[in-house]
Amino acid sequence: MRIAWATDIHLNFLNEQKRETFFHSTLEHNSDAVFITGDIAEAPTLSFHLQEMVEFIQQPLYFVLGNHDYYYGAITSVRNATEKLCVSQQNLTYLTGNRVIELTKKTALVGHDGWGDGRLGNIEQTSVRLNDFRLIEELTGLEYRKLIGKLRELGDEAAALIQDTLSNALDTYDHVIFLTHVPPFKESCWYEGRVGNDDWLPFFTCKAVGDVLYELMKCRTHSRLTVLCGHTHNEGIAQILPNLRVVTGSADYGVPHVQEVLEID
Ligand SMILES: [Fe+2]
Repeated sequence: MRIAWATDIHLNFLNEQKRETFFHSTLEHNSDAVFITGDIAEAPTLSFHLQEMVEFIQQPLYFVLGNHDYYYGAITSVRNATEKLCVSQQNLTYLTGNRVIELTKKTALVGHDGWGDGRLGNIEQTSVRLNDFRLIEELTGLEYRKLIGKLRELGDEAAALIQDTLSNALDTYDHVIFLTHVPPFKESCWYEGRVGNDDWLPFFTCKAVGDVLYELMKCRTHSRLTVLCGHTHNEGIAQILPNLRVVTGSADYGVPHVQEVLEID
């Protein structure tokens, strides 16, 4: 099985011709399905772009959402609308939830958006303030202490869900692929060839999810986990454990590309 993976494609910044050029590029690799690890568009246009893409490629599209997908909207309503859309589109699968998708007899797919949960780096001292905090309803207008609490809550929610889903998948399959938007480890938070600094780490890593992945894989030495993520727009590979590999994809606004073609047996 061949999968074309892309991340942070920000389709809302492209005109129709450029979007079609990108969709076409995902098909040039003779892939059987496409993975997208978030930041697909923004809330007002997300459903339109997902539908347009899946109708164009005519093959299964598995995805999670990124922080930009909630801009000018709310996390809860965007997730609900996306779930609803996927019910009506046979080839469209939003992985956040508890889905375990069998790709082959040996390999399964799971996913969760994840969230920059504020636990790594120095959230107390950083002067970084993301657009998330004024463009996503649940994060808008929160006093800084409350904002930190909300980021942690979002990370914990992702971690709890993925713990159950991933455990189930690892009970049955030798290899699991986990799609998420936010890098789960400091070592996977790439920026220009090195790890992001303490000012950015709080918002570009989801430690709660990383802790779950690490604990699960530490004692399952016969299973293998591949994590695909984005969010930093900078690529790199981190081997966290012999059986836990995290690949972070690159991106440039306006020129989305296929990051990698995965061959799965
Ligand atoms: Fe992002």
